[in-house]
Amino acid sequence: MTAFHYRNGALRAEDCDLAAIAEKAGTPFYCYSGAALEENYRAFAQAFPGDALIAFSVKANGNLAVLKTLAALGSGADVVSGGELKKALAAGVAPGRIVFSGVGKTKDEMRAGLESGICQFNVESEPELEILNETAAALGVRAPVAIRLNPDVDARTHAKIATGGAETKFGIPVSRARQAYAHAARLPGLRIVGVDMHIGSQITEKAPFAAAFSRLAETIRMLRAEGHEIASADVGGGLGVAYGAGLPLPLKDYAAAVARALDGLKLRLILEPGRAIAAEAGVLVSRVLYAKEGESRSFLVLDAGMNDFLRPALYDAYHEIVPLNEPGPARAVYDVVGPVCETADIFARQRTLPVLKAGDLVAILSAGAYGAVMASAYNARPPAPEILVKGGRWSVVRPRLSEDTLVGYDRIPDWLQD
Ligand code: LLP
Repeated sequence: MTAFHYRNGALRAEDCDLAAIAEKAGTPFYCYSGAALEENYRAFAQAFPGDALIAFSVKANGNLAVLKTLAALGSGADVVSGGELKKALAAGVAPGRIVFSGVGKTKDEMRAGLESGICQFNVESEPELEILNETAAALGVRAPVAIRLNPDVDARTHAKIATGGAETKFGIPVSRARQAYAHAARLPGLRIVGVDMHIGSQITEKAPFAAAFSRLAETIRMLRAEGHEIASADVGGGLGVAYGAGLPLPLKDYAAAVARALDGLKLRLILEPGRAIAAEAGVLVSRVLYAKEGESRSFLVLDAGMNDFLRPALYDAYHEIVPLNEPGPARAVYDVVGPVCETADIFARQRTLPVLKAGDLVAILSAGAYGAVMASAYNARPPAPEILVKGGRWSVVRPRLSEDTLVGYDRIPDWLQD
């Protein structure tokens, strides 16, 4: 199924006409397909049958309606903050299916996780082991712990989203795994349950995964030989999608890399996919405000900006842009930009697109992951609202903030009051 497709010349999300939604809801807006989310989740669940825990990475898309769609299918959640934990719980994710990752957990966040009875904490440093131990002991419980190991593997992805290299802040070097687990085993507030790894995001080759998983398997054997009970292996997320012409790593090849390294170790698998489930399930719909001629290039100025969708500005990410009206054959070359006062506010550079004019609607594709979650109110622009579609129904699942609401967030101190 392709959730976003043309029918009678108009781009639809499932059975909803996106231009009709734009008329009612205004632009820009994110639109997610419930069916695509479900299909992508189910593909993962089928690729990893049995007792594997698919813990959707909430950082990719934290909208409650999205989380609830996935939770209804049995999805767990990978959270990295107290806020994400609250969202996962509010969406109905079972606490026993939540893993808590992140290099900088606070005591409050640890307490919240312990009090809700989450599945495990993925601990990223020795000092964190100590603080988690104290926090759990103070509550009279033992914290379920996996240690995130950094395998020093090049994920061959954008440098800003590679996490498995020795020079990054993530995890404990695999060379210190023995000491770190011995350390954890001595702390009475902790209960070792497994190991964890995540080498980066938007990975499109099998080799980095294979290298990391084989290092993980070696480490599990070593830790078991040392007497630790390693019942689960959290292999993180990272599976890439095809944003442009590039091919993604097929899910079955990724699953084969996991199986090849870890089958036979009798582990419960935990996976933390984010992008692979949400990216292609969402688009950002925007209107062309101006078609503008520069000295040497033509610009399309959209009403969405880098505050709404940061990936192109931050990672030079490629996203396809298509008109909502099915295009004819005429083409032109454009720079597609937003209204924000930064040169970085650009969605596509020198892109050959159907000829477009002011007032036309476009969709920026594969924007369902790391889109709305990374939005800001830069330039005092209320970020794009979010809409979820299911068949022929649609609903605003995060409304557009009014400018007054934004302005109302600020406070004037007493010495500046009139
Ligand atoms: N688990 C951990 C510990 C992570 O740090 C991440 C992503 C994931 C799972 C999910 O990874 P995924 O399956 O989505 O690749 N904002 C960037 C991506 C940052 C990813 C951060 N960590 C982007 O827009 O490309």
